[in-house]
Amino acid sequence: MMHFKNGFRYFGAALFASSILASCGAAAKDKAWPKVRSPISQDAKIESDIDALLARMSIEQKVGQMIQAEIKNISPDDAAKYHIGSILNGGGSWPTDKAEGPLGAWLSMANLFYGASMDEGDDRLAIPIIWGTDAVHGHNNVVGATVFPHNIGLGAANNPNLMRDIGTATAREIAVTGIDWTFAPTVAVAKDIRWGRTYESYSQDSKVVANLGKEIILGLQGHPALENFLSEQKVVVTAKHFIGDGGTIGGDDQGETTLSEMELFKEHGQGYVQALGVGAQTVMASFNTWNGQKIHGHKYLLTDVLKGKMGFDGLVVGDWNGHGQIPGCSDESCPQAINAGIDLIMVPVAWKAFLENTIRQVKAGEIPMERINDAVRRILRVKMRAGMFEDGKPSAHELAGRAKLIGHPDHRAVARQAVRESLVLLKNNSVLPISADSKVMVLGTGSDNPAYQSGGWTVTWQGSDLETRQINPRKYYKGHTTILDGIKSAVQSAGGNVQTSPEGAADVAIVVFGEAPYAEFEGDLSATDMALEADENFQLIQSLKARNIPVVTVFLSGRPRGVDALIDSSDAFVAAWLPGSEGAGVADVLIARDKRKPQNDFKGKLPFDWPASGATQAIAAPIKYNYGYGLTYSK
Ligand code: BGC
Ligand code: BGC
Repeated sequence: MMHFKNGFRYFGAALFASSILASCGAAAKDKAWPKVRSPISQDAKIESDIDALLARMSIEQKVGQMIQAEIKNISPDDAAKYHIGSILNGGGSWPTDKAEGPLGAWLSMANLFYGASMDEGDDRLAIPIIWGTDAVHGHNNVVGATVFPHNIGLGAANNPNLMRDIGTATAREIAVTGIDWTFAPTVAVAKDIRWGRTYESYSQDSKVVANLGKEIILGLQGHPALENFLSEQKVVVTAKHFIGDGGTIGGDDQGETTLSEMELFKEHGQGYVQALGVGAQTVMASFNTWNGQKIHGHKYLLTDVLKGKMGFDGLVVGDWNGHGQIPGCSDESCPQAINAGIDLIMVPVAWKAFLENTIRQVKAGEIPMERINDAVRRILRVKMRAGMFEDGKPSAHELAGRAKLIGHPDHRAVARQAVRESLVLLKNNSVLPISADSKVMVLGTGSDNPAYQSGGWTVTWQGSDLETRQINPRKYYKGHTTILDGIKSAVQSAGGNVQTSPEGAADVAIVVFGEAPYAEFEGDLSATDMALEADENFQLIQSLKARNIPVVTVFLSGRPRGVDALIDSSDAFVAAWLPGSEGAGVADVLIARDKRKPQNDFKGKLPFDWPASGATQAIAAPIKYNYGYGLTYSK
């Protein structure tokens, strides 16, 4: 029986010492990739505890540690029997059949897997299993959780303190469910808005991405210099997807990124420099290729660059069967990925075959034992730094089971602030702000539509059912406030009037619509799809205009779209991105108690260039509004 209880968490002393020891000025290859000194220095006790464990582990136990299976595809008994090191729940995978719960099922499942992993049977060692989840805009797989704006909106807000608050609130909600690890933040720099993951990117500017990524990591993991670092209120983070995910040709998800090494570093590497500099413990490999070679099999980038030159000593996790895309590999077998430097293989379904094949490949010498030992060392190091050997079962953790923290009003207040600050005003012909005592029509497919507000990665992977393609049912959005709800409460409390039918007269109409939810490759656009104009919402705006009713368009989307005709025919146009559960943040800025004195001004600035209609490419030319554009009431 191993004991790791010595009363304190394992983290090193060189706390404030994060420093970057090289620069990226020159174009020479060896000038890229600075050595990043992690503020979490290696701890002698941890390293010797790992040595002791490794000495006792069989090949089967070691390879098992390196496997991450999906909760719907493995039982706690099998996880124990096969010495599995990690589990995940994929997007839209919950511990229950129904998304709605009960909430306690998350913690019960975490307890079951933990209990199985700590049960020392005949051939077993007690090593806590680590559970990862895609909490990418709040703890978004859990019904009732606070859902923050997707990253693109946070890039528009560009407020570092807010990022820390979001990270803190998200970590607390994850901790309630007994989960240890989030696959966030995404530090992709989207270079072509046709990419279906553009909304997971904070900005087209790599400096903004790196800075906001750093700040949310400090909120999620805690500050390395403080007691709260990886405490029971915090979670392990993942900087993803290393590297070049946002740079693929045509914005093709999982496609090819063709760049020089210096460009790759400058455009897509900055997020990792900052993440490692604040102690990010895990990095996820990316699906894309760089100059023709899959990153999952790229030894130079994963091992020589990330672990070597940059000095990363945490673990590299693969993406969902990403190894299976390497030429010569399948989901069931891929020594190349392990040899290239993936430590923990995300093999959601075919984990057993992968495990058996890998054990055979190690025995046959296709994978060197030193590589296995290094991978297991990194996995154990992260688990020990996270206090997993000391913290006991998930339900014994500080915030475990505290259902009131899920969607807590304090967290919702942070999300509502984020919504307010993310709104970008592109046009205003003196129609905004709207006086609260007005007669207001609230119309459009997105006005009372939580699925449109939250987009993909919300309770389900796509924000819709994979088979029927129906958007998620309303019950998945427990506790969410729609944009209509927010406007109603602001206007009605001031004696104004809100109607949701386009009939009759009104002082102003707010028309809310935009993109239907999507995630990953399902959201990729072709050049001809860049525009989004000729639908029923556009007809609605035309008919309101014909009746001399001023129109404020609130556009919900995961990226800019070519909508010139819409902007031209609206009196005001607001880009609201994918704001999440707190739709009332929109009314906070649009509705003024006193017409001359808005309650909140617009703060958001475009995090991406906004294309004109007819733009067909990249950060699309021709441009209608440039990066950084955004009007305010005051100026
Ligand atoms: C995505 C990752 C995600 C993983 C697990 C993959 O398809 O690319 O970002 O973390 O699935 O859901
Ligand atoms: C899962 C996601 C995953 C995706 C990868 C989906 O079925 O729910 O988590 O990212 O598959 O293709």
